[in-house]
Amino acid sequence: MLLAILEGMPAGVPVRLDQVDKKLRQRQGGPGRGGRQRIEQDRAEFVGGLRGGQTLGSPIGIIVRNRDWPNWQGVLGAGADEVDAEKAEAKALYRPRPGHADLAGALKYDRRDLRDVLERASARETAARVAVGAVCLELLAAVGVRVLGHVVALGPVRATPPPTGTTFAALIEAVEASDCRCADTAATAAMHEAIREATLARDSLGGLIEVLAVGVPVGLGSYASSDRRLDGRLAAALMSIQAMKAVEVGIGAEAARLRGSAAHDEIVVDTEGSALAANEEAAGSFGGGAGRYRRPTNRAGGIEGGVSNGEPVLVRVAMKPIPTLLKPLRSADMRTGEVIAAGYERSDITSVPAASVVAEAVAGFVLAQALLEKFGGDSLGEVRRNLAGYAAQVAGR
Ligand SMILES: Cc1cc2nc3c(=O)[nH]c(=O)nc-3n(C[C@H](O)[C@H](O)[C@H](O)COP(=O)(O)O)c2cc1C
Repeated sequence: MLLAILEGMPAGVPVRLDQVDKKLRQRQGGPGRGGRQRIEQDRAEFVGGLRGGQTLGSPIGIIVRNRDWPNWQGVLGAGADEVDAEKAEAKALYRPRPGHADLAGALKYDRRDLRDVLERASARETAARVAVGAVCLELLAAVGVRVLGHVVALGPVRATPPPTGTTFAALIEAVEASDCRCADTAATAAMHEAIREATLARDSLGGLIEVLAVGVPVGLGSYASSDRRLDGRLAAALMSIQAMKAVEVGIGAEAARLRGSAAHDEIVVDTEGSALAANEEAAGSFGGGAGRYRRPTNRAGGIEGGVSNGEPVLVRVAMKPIPTLLKPLRSADMRTGEVIAAGYERSDITSVPAASVVAEAVAGFVLAQALLEKFGGDSLGEVRRNLAGYAAQVAGR
């Protein structure tokens, strides 16, 4: 069972429970997934902080149950009398899998059975993060900020970016129509083929995820203290997801090989008062942007000096291939020291589409936190008034 407690959410935020469960379902989707996803079919049970589909301003308690718990009774019970030694030994693991926390965790916490490590280190906990993130996304949507996590590369397949001018709504529609959560239909087909080939080769695949947030007001995060920087906070949150190995903001690593004149975004003044396409459709009290200041490009990914600059926030995160392999790498039996193939636990061939839902959720959490730091109030109405006052201030500059 997973238990999450979300503190600090203002009262009056509408939370659509079916939306939260939809996110949990999306986290379980995608081709190349292992048996666990079929067993589990997650649902979020709200056990506090919500009444009639609205937040109350109190901590929000969410439970996501493990549907396969009955299979583990007598093995993983909490009490001394809840573990049957024979059953537990039959399920015990002693061959650490390279690329997992198994070896370091067993040595660090002095555990004999690697199961003590892998049950907690597993990405299973991301179901809780998705449920919490889904509530944060509801707050953001209520003030006109929308967030999308999608797949831009899987294994060797790289998607063609959507044509310029593609609306956020059209992008979401294309992403949700693809079981790989990739807006490019041809790339989705090629991803299926890559997964099929990796499965035949008893191997695994990683990929690249993009998170896009539109309607983000100028001024979230701060340069004033290093730990308040929005880019650093997004990067830390995204890197905290299992298997993520690199984060880029905007053009990211590409900037290292460009000249300054090609790496930054010029500031132009929009005398017509029209909004940028991507931010245009964001409804709500602010709707994003930086008043009359616009950028013809968004190489910075909507963040300069650790502060959102009114352009869409754009971050990318690279996921390594799944480390549990049907054709295992070399490892050692920790009881005997004998060099032997690593253990195998039921596993995905790839989890990149699912991880894009997790990335969306954790980015939603960080953005909601940064939003509340700046515009926080006890109720959604108060947050909206604070935002509206700030929007008027920005519009006057
Ligand atoms: C949504 C998601 C699903 C995952 N599924 C698996 C899996 O089925 N098998 C596996 O070996 N690793 C899986 N991983 C990756 C491991 O959890 C991760 O590689 C491992 O915990 C080691 O952490 P590190 O890669 O960050 O060092 C998954 C990760 C995510 C985000």
